[in-house]
Amino acid sequence: MYIGIDLGTSAVKIVLVNNDHVLVASTERFFSTERPKPGWAEQDPDVWFENVAAGLDELAEKYRDKMAQVAGIGLSGQMHGVVLLDKHDAPVRRAILWNDGRAVAEAAELNLAEPELVEIAGVQAMPGFTGPKLLWLSRNEPENMDAAKLLLFPKDYVRMKLCGEKSTDVSDAAGSWLLDQKRRQWSRRSISACRADNLTFPEVFESAQPTGVLHTELANRWALPKGVIIAAGAGDVASGCMGIGAVDGKRGLISLGTSAQVVLSSNVFEPKTKNLAHTFCHALPDTWIQMAAMLNGTSVLDTVSCWIGESDIATMIAAAEKQFDGPGKLLALPYLSGERTPHNDNKIRGAIIGLSHSSSAADITLAFLESIVFSLSDGLAALEVEEDLPTEMALVGGGSKSAFLAELISSILGIQIVKYEGAEFGPALGAARLARLANSDGSVDTVITPLPVQRVFEPDAELNKRYEPRIREFRRLYQGLRAD
Ligand code: XUL
Repeated sequence: MYIGIDLGTSAVKIVLVNNDHVLVASTERFFSTERPKPGWAEQDPDVWFENVAAGLDELAEKYRDKMAQVAGIGLSGQMHGVVLLDKHDAPVRRAILWNDGRAVAEAAELNLAEPELVEIAGVQAMPGFTGPKLLWLSRNEPENMDAAKLLLFPKDYVRMKLCGEKSTDVSDAAGSWLLDQKRRQWSRRSISACRADNLTFPEVFESAQPTGVLHTELANRWALPKGVIIAAGAGDVASGCMGIGAVDGKRGLISLGTSAQVVLSSNVFEPKTKNLAHTFCHALPDTWIQMAAMLNGTSVLDTVSCWIGESDIATMIAAAEKQFDGPGKLLALPYLSGERTPHNDNKIRGAIIGLSHSSSAADITLAFLESIVFSLSDGLAALEVEEDLPTEMALVGGGSKSAFLAELISSILGIQIVKYEGAEFGPALGAARLARLANSDGSVDTVITPLPVQRVFEPDAELNKRYEPRIREFRRLYQGLRAD
């Protein structure tokens, strides 16, 4: 039996999985994000641990006998955060999250001044990454940088509380802009460029390595045996791939949650930094992720639902589907939060064109649904795989609930889309699988396997052709609206 903990942005998900990959139990605890200024996003690290502990208390109460069989815990989590700890290992300030946009000037400056570091980091510096935020802190909160002794990433703060170790894994460290992705070790040059030389950085492990043993008093509290290992684990994207068994370039992953990612795995390090693609260390040794990271996923649909006054997203999508007979009459840009891949443009905003007196709420919904899919198509294009398209993409996250959206994605991208059973727990399942590997219980071939298929969506070739000119118009609309 293994536990996987996925520390997300809005909730922590915890799963208990048996040795046949069957999900035995799960729990979810929600917490909020502080937004002290527009575009800023912060959370209190102690709230993370309180929620993890409360989730494990609940599992211990309901599944005491199962908890007694647990051999390992794996961690997954939101990436790119800054958790600064003082000499007593206490947080110096609230953590600054991946979706915090304060370090715009610092990211631009690093790209201009340090182009070689872009190749080392596998991606251009962007405001959400740890390194540019550390540079921002050194300029704007020097007292906090002076008090800070250690940097950790969100899931690694939970690790420290569980077992006392100050370590991380390659795939989470990869999102900091401070890792030499090829060597899979910290880049001292990048750390200096971000003025973070005074900080201690956690030791970097491969994701399936053990990093410590759960404190005895916590084992007692949660009815766990003595000696439960804590595996290094992975950032949420890499862990999601482990959870559904996506480990090569043929079976990719589209994660459509609040934000969206298009992800392929590779066993060569080939950064594609011009396109704003991210080439990050993956959760298995000698493998890397090629990722397009978009900021506008299902959050766009939530906002559209407010605009049109339909609070039920499924009903809203059903109305768009009912009148669907190919590309809609309106054209929208989904960039309500600015965009990362392929634009690195935090100023761009959403748009809709073609409105007339006869436009309906369903037309508007369809336009924004299509715009999300067009941005996924841009994401796939940024990975430069048009000559060698993946044969299938697994669809995970809240956006995978809509079969209509899955069909649109399949037809517009021209790729088979697969929904797997239990994929909503992907990163937590991946973490549990990594814990199993860290416990030398099975091999990659037997543990990192696909989940049972729930449904397959085949592309409609005719629809794919009809959408081609719309995608070109979508790209032209962005070019027309960008600020420079
Ligand atoms: C990946 C990314 C998200 C965050 C939040 O680059 O930004 O996956 O980790 O989940």
